[in-house]
Amino acid sequence: MDQHACEILPRAELEPCTIIIFGGSGDLTSRKLIPALLTLFNSGQLPEHFSIIGCSRTRMTDRQYREHLQRSGSAGRSAEELQGWQAFSRHLHYFPLEYNPAGFARLAAHLRRQSGSRQPSANLLFELAVPPRLYPLIGELLGQAGLADQTRGWSRLVVEKPFGHDLATARSLNTTLHQFFQEEQLFRIDHYLAKETIQNLLIFRFANAIFEPIWNRRYIDSVQIMAAEQLGVGTRAGFYEQAGVIRDMFQNHLMQLLVLTAMEPPYCLEAEAVHDEKIKVIRSLRTFSAERGSAIRLGQYSPGIIAGSRVPGYREEAGVAPHSTTPTYARLTTYVDNWRWQGVPFFLVSGKRLPRKQTRITIQFKAVPHSLFSDSLGDGIRANTLTIETYPEEAIRLSFQTKNPSPQLCLRTMEMDFAYHEHYPGPAPDAYGRVLLDCMLGDQLLFWRQDGIEASWAFLEPVLEACADCGGLQQLHFYPAGSEGP
Ligand SMILES: NC(=O)c1ccc[n+]([C@@H]2O[C@H](COP(=O)([O-])OP(=O)(O)OC[C@H]3O[C@@H](n4cnc5c(N)ncnc54)[C@H](OP(=O)(O)O)[C@@H]3O)[C@@H](O)[C@H]2O)c1
Repeated sequence: MDQHACEILPRAELEPCTIIIFGGSGDLTSRKLIPALLTLFNSGQLPEHFSIIGCSRTRMTDRQYREHLQRSGSAGRSAEELQGWQAFSRHLHYFPLEYNPAGFARLAAHLRRQSGSRQPSANLLFELAVPPRLYPLIGELLGQAGLADQTRGWSRLVVEKPFGHDLATARSLNTTLHQFFQEEQLFRIDHYLAKETIQNLLIFRFANAIFEPIWNRRYIDSVQIMAAEQLGVGTRAGFYEQAGVIRDMFQNHLMQLLVLTAMEPPYCLEAEAVHDEKIKVIRSLRTFSAERGSAIRLGQYSPGIIAGSRVPGYREEAGVAPHSTTPTYARLTTYVDNWRWQGVPFFLVSGKRLPRKQTRITIQFKAVPHSLFSDSLGDGIRANTLTIETYPEEAIRLSFQTKNPSPQLCLRTMEMDFAYHEHYPGPAPDAYGRVLLDCMLGDQLLFWRQDGIEASWAFLEPVLEACADCGGLQQLHFYPAGSEGP
């Protein structure tokens, strides 16, 4: 019989608030943020009194803005997902804004007028959906306009990835934002963390007694964390040429998955306690050094076939330099130097234009210590694996050996699996919706804390140096699009 255990204490009440989106005319707003907010609205998860104000330089009226969002946000969405738009769009407004002190003084006056007249209140959630170079400027302009002040209601700032370009820029951005915002006002998003399977990893590890005793170097041979993409660079060449795969995928998503896999149990599920354990893992990562077993393999996709169609190589993509040495694939071998994980390699893999989109953590257990079957089967017994998958399915699978029904001794690998969609029908909760909701609640659990993000950059600095050299060092391996990588 199914048994459910839900939070005994209700989550904090949602207070009225105004969500202000900088870059309100852009791609992230129309494709991710507004649809996520619409879904929250349809399921009754937004506060009774709220408003959303899109801000950017383009001149638009409220009506034009609503039409733009409806047009650009509806592509590929079902009628069910789009229901409720009329009622929802009445909460949508547009405020043309220049990113300078005069523009922000006007914005502050507008918000004061709005909160002074009637609901929504003075609680303000600012979302940075603009190119990252604007993050420090907007942080400062908000502070100077008095909008980081919390005397009349809360003020929170949501910062999208990438948070900095390297350790120095991440530190500098933190310093700038901290001039006006306290740490608890800053929400550094990594929406991977809001996926159900990733949150389930904590439950899986710490609400089941059977895995924790074997979750260590005695029983685990290796851990592989993979985020493969089938897409190429698309329209993001300007960003990607500067970033490459390490900044785009490793610094945030793969690091978070590694940390959740390797961390010790926190003493409670509050954000600070969880962040404290996470930072210990990042600080335990072995400094990248080939002499001490770390390794990196870098690749770049060349022309090939994806889903039956020819696609260009990275160097032929619009906006990419013809001799670019930007890696689009990396496989990093690293180690967590602590008692639990000493000697267990962690393989972090991510690449573009691989055969299929796939995100998974694979725990490879050790082989049996002594095989009873070696006379008849040799050494061919597959060790157990545990796979935690977020794409294409949200699922957990455990492989084990069984005997094939036959007079001969013949082993067969079988899987016990749990797929979210089979047990929880209906659309999976949207990751962006979850993180926006948590910002409104002030819950920091799914966000990066300052020390975590800086430690993550510090670990990756030597890796980035190796990548910067890869052209000259002949370490960049070309792989045809649609292949498994170099
Ligand atoms: N798109 C995604 O799926 C995604 C996913 C994860 C993270 N992010 C991050 O989210 C942020 C926004 O992404 P996006 O794809 O929505 O970006 P975008 O479409 O390139 O830009 C968003 C808006 O920013 C404004 N803008 C552009 N250049 C500007 C400039 N120089 N000065 C002032 N405003 C400027 C533009 O509005 P106006 O011209 O009207 O001012 C534009 O509509 C980025 O930091 C990105 O890295 C995006």
